[in-house]
Amino acid sequence: MSVLSGKYGLIVGVANKRSIAWAIAQAAAAAGARLAVTYQGERLEENVRELSETLSNPLVLPLDVTDDAQIASVFAAIEKEFGGLDFVVHGAAYAPREELSAPFVQTSREGFRMSLDISAYSLVALARGALPLMERRGGGSLLTLTYLGSERVFHNYNVMGVAKAALEACVRYLAADLGPKNIRVNAISAGPIKTLAAAGIAGFSSILQHYRDRAPLRRTVDTAEVADAAMFLLSDAGRAVTAEVLMVDAGYHATGM
Ligand SMILES: NC(=O)c1ccc[n+]([C@@H]2O[C@H](COP(=O)([O-])OP(=O)(O)OC[C@H]3O[C@@H](n4cnc5c(N)ncnc54)[C@H](O)[C@@H]3O)[C@@H](O)[C@H]2O)c1
Repeated sequence: MSVLSGKYGLIVGVANKRSIAWAIAQAAAAAGARLAVTYQGERLEENVRELSETLSNPLVLPLDVTDDAQIASVFAAIEKEFGGLDFVVHGAAYAPREELSAPFVQTSREGFRMSLDISAYSLVALARGALPLMERRGGGSLLTLTYLGSERVFHNYNVMGVAKAALEACVRYLAADLGPKNIRVNAISAGPIKTLAAAGIAGFSSILQHYRDRAPLRRTVDTAEVADAAMFLLSDAGRAVTAEVLMVDAGYHATGM
């Protein structure tokens, strides 16, 4: 399947081989896309460079999404190398560890600010940077990753749930803003998957078990399944879909008692 053949993509949020963004990068590369992949800080550079060796001719760039100068450098490098951009995968999220175990009412001002900046505002900043490059290609697709904790209360998800609610609202506002330029903006709301980010959530294993017990498919999901859904939203197959939050969670979101 070469549904992304001839397309250029930017993948933000690869930390290691378990990252959801890495599964999407692999699927996009297999579907024919040429990719720019970013890493957050020197700590992750080696990991990301090593993983990217398996891609064909990738651009590997540093990007901390809180740094406007780095965001500008990433798009300048993409403009120089690719001349345009067809899709962006936004898989960056962060909340200070203490905010993911203390009672929500104890959320600090700084913890709240950081979580919303990194996990929600960064989508707006990346969309702004991608806009001129996507316009040159006659449109594009932006995709972010969210979780049901945006709408419902999950123990210890705390300020990350608030950040995901903001992120999903950003998806809708960006979709309305950029739709006339044929740029689509969507999110995938993934079921829980054991990744580095998930390891920061106290009691994560019990959330996984709850999904196995309660989700209609009686199981959790894996990163390859999220990547398959991402291929739909990133490719022309999803050309009429925007402002959407697609649930890839084995049906858990529909359950009540
Ligand atoms: N794992 C799950 O259960 C799950 C479920 C639903 C949604 N998600 C979302 O999927 C996305 C990817 O997370 P993951 O589970 O693959 O974990 P992960 O730890 O592999 O990925 C999170 C990424 O965010 C990046 N990041 C954090 N702060 C950053 C910053 N300042 N600048 C640039 N990058 C930064 C990290 O470097 C890392 O690559 C996140 O948005 C997460 O909330 C995860």
